[in-house]
Amino acid sequence: PKCDMAFLNEELLALVETVRPTPGEVEARDAALAAVKKVLVDIWPAAMVELFGSCANGLSVAAANDIDVCLVLPPGVADDTPGKAAAVEAAAAALGEAGFTDLLALPRARVPVVKCVAPASLGGTKVDVTVNNMLALLNTRLLATYVALDPRLAQLCHVIKHWAKRRSVNDPYRGTLSSYAYVLMCIHLLQTRSPPILPVLQGGPGVPTPTVKTAVGVWPVEYCDDVAALEGYGSANTETLADLVWAFFEYWAWRHDYSGSVISIRLGGWLTKAQKDWTRRVGNERHLLGIEDPFEVAHDLGRTIDRATAGVLQKEFERAGGLLREHGGPGGAARLMEPYRAGKNDG
Ligand code: UTP
Repeated sequence: PKCDMAFLNEELLALVETVRPTPGEVEARDAALAAVKKVLVDIWPAAMVELFGSCANGLSVAAANDIDVCLVLPPGVADDTPGKAAAVEAAAAALGEAGFTDLLALPRARVPVVKCVAPASLGGTKVDVTVNNMLALLNTRLLATYVALDPRLAQLCHVIKHWAKRRSVNDPYRGTLSSYAYVLMCIHLLQTRSPPILPVLQGGPGVPTPTVKTAVGVWPVEYCDDVAALEGYGSANTETLADLVWAFFEYWAWRHDYSGSVISIRLGGWLTKAQKDWTRRVGNERHLLGIEDPFEVAHDLGRTIDRATAGVLQKEFERAGGLLREHGGPGGAARLMEPYRAGKNDG
């Protein structure tokens, strides 16, 4: 790239500091979580209420201002789909009574959820409550372990998540990718650098035997979370944040084989679409961009993408890569993060 990498690195590191949540936001999130806990434990005294997602894995960004809460009910209460749906409806009613607003219960979604907003007096944090979402709790811990291994992962995720929000390509309900998908893409990049920055916690070379061993339904969940044993794993790689941001966009703009490849952090590498049986469209699942979930391996995080949004994403990766490749001088980070305006700067 033409851009001055040392300069870009300074700019990106400064940006990372500004996209971290403010103390006020953290306080509002804590207040919302305490209020949700109280409502849910009033209905189900034996329940556990746990945070997952970015607030629990160290990757939250400012102004995203929402929390993901998992209600873990004792065995027998909401084991099946109708049980989860009923629990979601009961939780929605109780949260409404407690002053939460903008309630939206989606009891029949793939992952049943109540969406709501904490009372303004508590800071108005957006809250998603799901029930017995054990895979999400476990993948949050896996991501948190990766985050603890090398500071460059959180930095890269902050930059990419911020970029994706500014460029309007971070909405799985509108055909683009979830933040979780972007985090998996970042982990995969760091696992496949040479030398690697991150190990493969699910059984890769140099990684001790699994310390977490369980299963959720048919999905085995095994990985090593012994951060101390893996300290310094990526230290032979001296790439900076700017190098990695460039590598990310270069890969997704020009190197990834969209028609044939699936990325897998479980393997720290690639699978073919044929190996995954993701070569044809089944219902709404088109598999235009293959990202394997680390535990629920039948889940393609790219399934939300259709032909039109695949084109939009490709253009955005090329725009970002192109900016870094073609422009020198200061202002590289600001150019990258310029908000998307239809017809103006959409490449
Ligand atoms: P998000 O995509 O909302 O990630 O998924 P985030 O990092 O919290 O996003 P921001 O900061 O609000 O933008 C939240 C969690 O939901 C689970 C994962 O545990 C993820 O950390 N999840 C999400 C899945 O398990 N599968 C999915 O397909 C999406």
